[in-house]
Amino acid sequence: MSSLAIENIGLLVTNDPSLGEGPLGILRDATLVFEDDRVAAVERKGAAADASFDAAGRCLIPGFVDSHTHLVFAGNRAEEFAARMAGRPYEASGIRVTTEATRTATDDELRALATRRRGEALRAGITHIEIKSGYGLDVASERRLCKIAAELTDDVTFLGAHAVPPEYEGRPDEYIDLVCGEMLAACAPPARWIDVFCERGAFDAEQSRAVLTAGASAGLGLRVHGNQLGPGPGIQLAVEMGAASVDHCTYFDDHDIGALAAGDTVATFLPATDFSTRQPYPDARRMIDGGVQVAIATNTNPGSSNTTSMGFCIALAVREMGMSIDEALLAATAGGARALRREDVGRLAPGTRADGVLLDAPTYIDLVYRPGVPLVDTVFVAGREAWQAS
Ligand code: NIG
Repeated sequence: MSSLAIENIGLLVTNDPSLGEGPLGILRDATLVFEDDRVAAVERKGAAADASFDAAGRCLIPGFVDSHTHLVFAGNRAEEFAARMAGRPYEASGIRVTTEATRTATDDELRALATRRRGEALRAGITHIEIKSGYGLDVASERRLCKIAAELTDDVTFLGAHAVPPEYEGRPDEYIDLVCGEMLAACAPPARWIDVFCERGAFDAEQSRAVLTAGASAGLGLRVHGNQLGPGPGIQLAVEMGAASVDHCTYFDDHDIGALAAGDTVATFLPATDFSTRQPYPDARRMIDGGVQVAIATNTNPGSSNTTSMGFCIALAVREMGMSIDEALLAATAGGARALRREDVGRLAPGTRADGVLLDAPTYIDLVYRPGVPLVDTVFVAGREAWQAS
């Protein structure tokens, strides 16, 4: 067993109210002790350990938990983004452009691209990540995307129902049969979750229900993309099916808030998507005041949100969505963990995984106060220094 004491932490966010002040469980002048890959103790000051690390009075937060990404893809849609910034609307049909590029890439190329993006996310302070398939859309391609994702995380999501591929144009029900049958059987082994894009232009409520039902029968947990481009059935369906999370939630009404508040489904906001598709930002304040559990995720993908910066997402959530800074930080850490139904990440308390981010700042407020500035100094994953700014 080996231990590491992170000493001289000016401001420590634990996300455990029993350990410190307020919902963020804040301690000042603290020491955090890791033993192997777990947090062993949170001390006011000083602790014996095999090795020590001087935080130099700065702020340490739990690592970001990014519960929604599409990291495994090939190709680039910068021109599409530029056209959007010039006024063209976002269209989900762009998924097919990435699918074409992804299908023709080799395993090694996809692995190298995804690994590079995972490294970028780590440097942005993301210590745990969910990764979806969804740019293969045939049995062999979806399976290899799931397998490559599984090399980078244990939260792999099978998203065969991301779009109808061109070879099934006009035959969405036949494609859904493939997703629920042969494709699911091929993709379930490396996956923990199944997801469906329940939206006008993608899959309707009945098709989405079929995908979720088949996924649940295969032992997968449920996730839903919903209410991104307009009002729709995604939120209600996610709650009805007991999904862990419904993601996007840009459009919702009181009925949706009531369902979420009464259920166990997290509403996950993806503010960088609304930024990059020029959608309105969701009114997170209304959701939170209505008693809904919320998370924030990056939605890293080449079409609607090509960023790995959780700091940027937090800043948008505060500036544009009515969240307080504390709420946004909580949503990007403990909220993401809840959306993935995990107890081991998103907090720094005895027994949790030792995943922390030392900011080059005295307080986490700087994540919003100094937008766009790279504030991550050192990233700890499972008790080890995984990255340090030079
Ligand atoms: O979560 N909404 C569907 N899927 C992705 C976008 C994919 C794309 O445009 O390539 C999302 O935003």
